[in-house]
Amino acid sequence: MSSRLIVVLLVAGSALAQELKPILLPKPKVEGGKPLMQALSLRKSEHSEYSPEKLSPQVLSNLLWAAYGVNRPDGRRTAPSANNAQSVEIYVALAEGVYRYDHKSHNLEPVSAEDIRGAANKKPLAAAVDLIYVADFARLKGTDESKIQNSWAEAGFVGQNVYLFCASEGLATVVRGSVDREKLAPLMKLRPEQRITLDQPVGYPKK
Ligand SMILES: Cc1cc2nc3c(=O)[nH]c(=O)nc-3n(C[C@H](O)[C@H](O)[C@H](O)COP(=O)(O)O)c2cc1C
Repeated sequence: MSSRLIVVLLVAGSALAQELKPILLPKPKVEGGKPLMQALSLRKSEHSEYSPEKLSPQVLSNLLWAAYGVNRPDGRRTAPSANNAQSVEIYVALAEGVYRYDHKSHNLEPVSAEDIRGAANKKPLAAAVDLIYVADFARLKGTDESKIQNSWAEAGFVGQNVYLFCASEGLATVVRGSVDREKLAPLMKLRPEQRITLDQPVGYPKK
């Protein structure tokens, strides 16, 4: 391939990324769902059987709010964090591209127009959404060791919120530590202080 053609393709690719618009999510419905004890009884990991069926904007909105939305007027969230550092950032990989969940506006900010869902793991799943949890080490306090511990703990709480939401909504999910972080980080345009902890595909179960 000529170098001129490569330049043209790169420019076209970056123009495409710029065209990706923010997704304005509907207001989350924060009532209803299965009773907690029923959701706990149904919580499980699904390792393979996903349908590619998309989540509606309302279901995506409810999912992200349950995961790590703002649930109090002082800006605190549905998952706890050490010193209220709120270190977890949720990147949302959809067929149309990658977005960052902005909890303050409850919308999705565009990151890249690439479909990176298959890049997260050696075993790609057909799930409509891949939630990728990123720890912002600039926000975490304490020693290097406590920053690592707290980044994983906080991702774990968000992951369990997602598990319970999925159990309540009849969605399938699995949290994964076996994420290809080196491959994903440049695709997600991460800064050096942003580190991927876990990813969590979410989708409808295969019928
Ligand atoms: C920190 C952590 C990392 C995990 N990593 C993976 C993974 O890389 N791939 C996978 O298929 N499941 C992964 N799982 C899901 C576990 O396999 C699953 O939770 C376990 O088998 C128990 O099944 P259950 O969630 O249905 O109770 C992980 C779970 C945790 C908590």
